Amino acid sequence: DEVKEISTSLLKWYDVNRRDLPWRRINDSDDTDRDRKAYAVWVSEIMLQQTRVQTVINYFNRWMEKWPTVEHLAQASIEEVNEIWAGLGYYRRARFLLEGAKSIVEEGGQFPRSLNDLRKVRGIGEYTAGAIASIAFNEAVPVVDGNVIRVIARLRTISANPKDKTTVKNIWRLAGQLVDLSRPGDFNQALMELGATLCTPLNPNCSSCPISTQCNALLESKQNPSMVVTDY
Ligand code: ADE
Repeated sequence: DEVKEISTSLLKWYDVNRRDLPWRRINDSDDTDRDRKAYAVWVSEIMLQQTRVQTVINYFNRWMEKWPTVEHLAQASIEEVNEIWAGLGYYRRARFLLEGAKSIVEEGGQFPRSLNDLRKVRGIGEYTAGAIASIAFNEAVPVVDGNVIRVIARLRTISANPKDKTTVKNIWRLAGQLVDLSRPGDFNQALMELGATLCTPLNPNCSSCPISTQCNALLESKQNPSMVVTDY
């Protein structure tokens, strides 16, 4: 069916075009690695909120060198955390990581393994919980950021104002219908990557897009952002 075609094409594209990023190098061959991966995905996703991938790489590597596990991070002081964070801005995000690590360690130290349990950690919202659950624990849940909003709005020709809560909720629902059941983490990252590289706000590169034949915006010549994604 159409949903299967979209995820097959997108994953095939991602397998060839995925960027080699440090948090993607951790394999989850056993449960110890899975916790390490969950921690790495968490740190990277918090850093990637409002900061570009290229900038995040160095910050991420320095962070992981200093605090390789949640247990290490839970022992840190807010001053140390702010020092490593310096330059990234939005220091609240760094504090959330520290507080989250403390709460995970207080609860026994095992990384929460489901979307529902992740949501209970201080500072972990729907986006971050979805990213960790899908990328580290293979739970088939959607992840929607600004890039994904744009991709799905175009795919389904939705007038999406990202500031409108109802529309964004609708996009989460549509993303949930699309997410690949066997490779949810790769699927979600592929959508984000597609939005960051080809399905850009202005002049999207539709001729290189793996899902252009399924895209309603292209079909109706409405790729122009003013026609699908407003105010973004
Ligand atoms: N932007 C935010 N998170 C990302 C991820 N996991 N992959 C690619 N781009 C991202």
